[in-house]
Amino acid sequence: MTSFFTTSRQAAWLVRSSLTRFLPAIALLTFSSAAFALDITLPPETAAYRPSTLPGYQLARQNCMTCHSAHYPETQPPGLPHSFWEAEAKKMKATYGAQFSDADIPAIADYLTATYGAGADETKK
Ligand code: HEC
Repeated sequence: MTSFFTTSRQAAWLVRSSLTRFLPAIALLTFSSAAFALDITLPPETAAYRPSTLPGYQLARQNCMTCHSAHYPETQPPGLPHSFWEAEAKKMKATYGAQFSDADIPAIADYLTATYGAGADETKK
């Protein structure tokens, strides 16, 4: 087959320039068709609170997943004391407007300390 292009540099230029011209259009089409298809599948929730028999586990599941997953507690430095986790729960309420009772804070902090903080067995991570 005889080439339409006189040099391979010209061919390479054409490939490059059509890519830069058409990629945004292709991206837009892909994006907008996804927006109208309404068949979006969310990725499975992976960052769930680690199970525990402590009462704070259920409280954390009920009160600490409305705004973000368990990823935030999960990624705090290991070995943090009870005072940190208690302050953390208070901050979620006072600063970010989390809706749970002050009476639940000690149990939540107990659970978080035992599971993610000073009481946690790091080998279970
Ligand atoms: C009303 C919404 C809301 C609720 C409910 C909530 N959080 Fe948060 N949380 C936030 C926001 C906002 C941030 C900060 C995000 C950022 O800085 O990017 C945050 C951050 C965090 C962090 C990261 C460290 C930090 O201080 O920024 C931890 C740990 C955390 N939350 C734990 C909890 C726990 C435990 C609970 C339940 C007691 C909880 N959150 C409930 C809104 C909430």
